[in-house]
Amino acid sequence: MGTTAHGVPEIGQQVNLLLSHAAGYVAHRTVAMGVRAGLVEALAEAGEDGLSPDELADRLGLDRFYVATWCRAAFGAGICDRSGGAYRLAPHMATLLLDLSAPAYAGGVFEAMEQPEMFTRFEQHLATGQRLWWDGCGPRFIRAVSRVGRPFYRRLVPGGLEQVPGLAERLAAGCRVLDTACGAGMGLVLLAQAYPDCELVGVDGDEFSLEVAEENLRTAGLGDRVRLVHSPMEKMTFDRPFTVVINNISMHECRDIDQVARQVRAALEPGGWFVISDFPFPDDDDGLRSVPGRVMSGIQFFEAQIDDQLLPRRVYDDLLARHGFHGIGSVSLTPMHAVTYGRA
Ligand SMILES: C[S@@+](CC[C@H](N)C(=O)[O-])C[C@H]1O[C@@H](n2cnc3c(N)ncnc32)[C@H](O)[C@@H]1O
Repeated sequence: MGTTAHGVPEIGQQVNLLLSHAAGYVAHRTVAMGVRAGLVEALAEAGEDGLSPDELADRLGLDRFYVATWCRAAFGAGICDRSGGAYRLAPHMATLLLDLSAPAYAGGVFEAMEQPEMFTRFEQHLATGQRLWWDGCGPRFIRAVSRVGRPFYRRLVPGGLEQVPGLAERLAAGCRVLDTACGAGMGLVLLAQAYPDCELVGVDGDEFSLEVAEENLRTAGLGDRVRLVHSPMEKMTFDRPFTVVINNISMHECRDIDQVARQVRAALEPGGWFVISDFPFPDDDDGLRSVPGRVMSGIQFFEAQIDDQLLPRRVYDDLLARHGFHGIGSVSLTPMHAVTYGRA
């Protein structure tokens, strides 16, 4: 099996390609179900000894036959290892799927992809192209997206920000920081904890997201440290300038990206930093066929519905240059996460 003399793949190769997609779907559903039903957590608690499917089922009050079915699929997907009839989580899976505080946490993606806002609604409106905005998204989707954004913030704060020349010192000394499109406030919590002397403001255009942010800040004991503002980024105005403006996985969503860049510039003190932390959407064929590229292509189904698309990172270089920012630079934090920055 392989390619013909003319470089055209044989049918068997194409079947394998398609079946690998079906296998990925099986793995995705197995992970999402395992996290939701507590199976992954129970296996994490059992540690190296693991549990037999019956023990796992009994511990969670689930059906033994069904749990054995899940265990085999989880083994097949590489989420679990097994020996002597016991299943245990494969290395790092507990961190990757359960530890919301880990920079490598990936559990949110599985949860978000399963929400109807991702694919179901897109397909329903394939003919009409009827758009959506955040105020039309369900609470489960909004909370799931905040768990997608959390590791982006976690990599940014403080590690990513430390790679922006001159910024770490200012943050440590205390300054005014604005998180634009702050969503459910996960970033504000991390910023407030990392930089106790900073004054923090979060702005977002969606009221429900801000309610969740308020709740998250209160739970973290930071309710009085952060001011939340309900406004589109295109229209935000502030009475005093900021030293740093951050945007996490949202810059691509601006209805008018140039207007937002102008508003950010106006909100910054001279020499202040604008830090854009986002998905770097691949703009070449190889990138689009890579695993990160394909996951980002999945996210595009939601982005299309809110009338945007993820952007190649270099678009932000051009945007910052166009609006007179200087000292423009970027760092790649993971294949799915890049930071672009510039100074006012
Ligand atoms: C993908 S979520 C990210 C939220 C947060 N930064 C995070 O990483 O968890 C996008 C957020 O951007 C907000 N948003 C999108 N476009 C906006 C705009 N033009 N003005 C204000 N907020 C906007 C949405 O309401 C939503 O909360």
